[in-house]
Amino acid sequence: MKEQFPDIPRIPYEGPKSDNPLAFKFYNPDEKVGGKTMRDHLRFSIAYWQAINTGGSDPFGVDTMQRPWDTIQDPMEKAKVKAHAIFEMADKLNAPFYCFHDRDVAPEAETLAQTERNFDEIVALFKQLQKEYGVQLLWGTANLFGHPRYLHGAATSSNADVFAYAAAQVKKAMDATYELSGSNYVFWGGREGYYTLLNTDMKLELDNMARFLHMAVEYAKQIGFKGQLLIEPKPKEPTKHQYDFDAGNIHAFLRANGLVDDIKINVETNHATLAMHEMAHELRYARIHGLLGSVDANQGDLLLGWDTDQFPVDIYMTTAAMLEILQNGGLEPGGLNFDAKYRRSSIDIHDMFYSHIAGMDAFARGLKIAHKMLEDRVLSDFVEERYRSYSEGIGKQIVDGKADFNSLAEYAHQHDQIRNVSGRQEMLEAIVNRYLTITE
Ligand code: XUL
Ligand code: CO
Repeated sequence: MKEQFPDIPRIPYEGPKSDNPLAFKFYNPDEKVGGKTMRDHLRFSIAYWQAINTGGSDPFGVDTMQRPWDTIQDPMEKAKVKAHAIFEMADKLNAPFYCFHDRDVAPEAETLAQTERNFDEIVALFKQLQKEYGVQLLWGTANLFGHPRYLHGAATSSNADVFAYAAAQVKKAMDATYELSGSNYVFWGGREGYYTLLNTDMKLELDNMARFLHMAVEYAKQIGFKGQLLIEPKPKEPTKHQYDFDAGNIHAFLRANGLVDDIKINVETNHATLAMHEMAHELRYARIHGLLGSVDANQGDLLLGWDTDQFPVDIYMTTAAMLEILQNGGLEPGGLNFDAKYRRSSIDIHDMFYSHIAGMDAFARGLKIAHKMLEDRVLSDFVEERYRSYSEGIGKQIVDGKADFNSLAEYAHQHDQIRNVSGRQEMLEAIVNRYLTITE
């Protein structure tokens, strides 16, 4: 098949001094950082629904972008050209992975049976293209929110027929992910939430969501899928209250429903923002509970209250994120998936590549800065010292479970002149800035 992006070369690494917008300034896939290549640290993935399907539409206007395949009338023929396009793109960007929803990649038909046949045909093509390009599937997922049948949700729909249909869809999407040796399978509860309690049985909806996920865990075992299962939190949008609000909320849900050993978390930056958290907070929470599975890399706009899915270009954020990811021992089998879309006015084919290059470079830069900060122990020594009172004396007794209210009250009476030390926030912020500006 002919190239879809003939004007775009394979993106080379040219280093920070290069002014070529079609070159990496920081992402040098084979360069080692702390004994591991950047490729293996970052595990970049291109998201089909954003990279290929985004057309620039917003609630006020139609698509603004024209793509080479837009003139193709036959939907299956178009799907095949787009399949080639995502692999060409990942290959030219030197990204080792891609991700997709079932309905991104193949058209929905009149019957579920025909829809599945369409999907099967594309999955077979993906399998062949994976071999050809050496690009692998980071994760698969099912779109349980786009079609009108999901207007009340999927696993949390008030209509049991919809629950069953969603199960059939996830079963098939899991089969495809297994067939393509996907490393993970993601659940994002697109409409798993509600708009008003006036018509909502919250208890039944939450129980049904847990039932659905138990069935999915069971099915993964049945087919021998060894990949990671992940839930992606998002507090709102499209519904007012999404049940999978944030990492803490998902942790509670998984524990309450006996799923905590089976499912981890896919953290997305813009979703963290919508939950009024910094990305690093969500990553830290997931990490310390052994739940950090993968990342949807993007960023929001703090002045806009919705999910803008911008490319992650903020090096302060990518550094903070990489500090958590490195301390997690990496993300494998997860990765950094660009769930990010081109701005409505970034209409050219070149923008498809400039945007990914910008995001990949920002994370590569963040990786290097974070690695150096960890190597120099600039924050960890300070934090360790800050909590030193818990490694000796009364603090150690508290941590070891050897204190109670009686012993603590007795101690407090003898030590009631409290002396605190500074948290030194601004000094630490200046240290971070110093690392951000160190060039090599
Ligand atoms: C929506 C979102 C999804 C999930 C996959 O906000 O992030 O694209 O990543 O369903
Ligand atoms: Co996402």
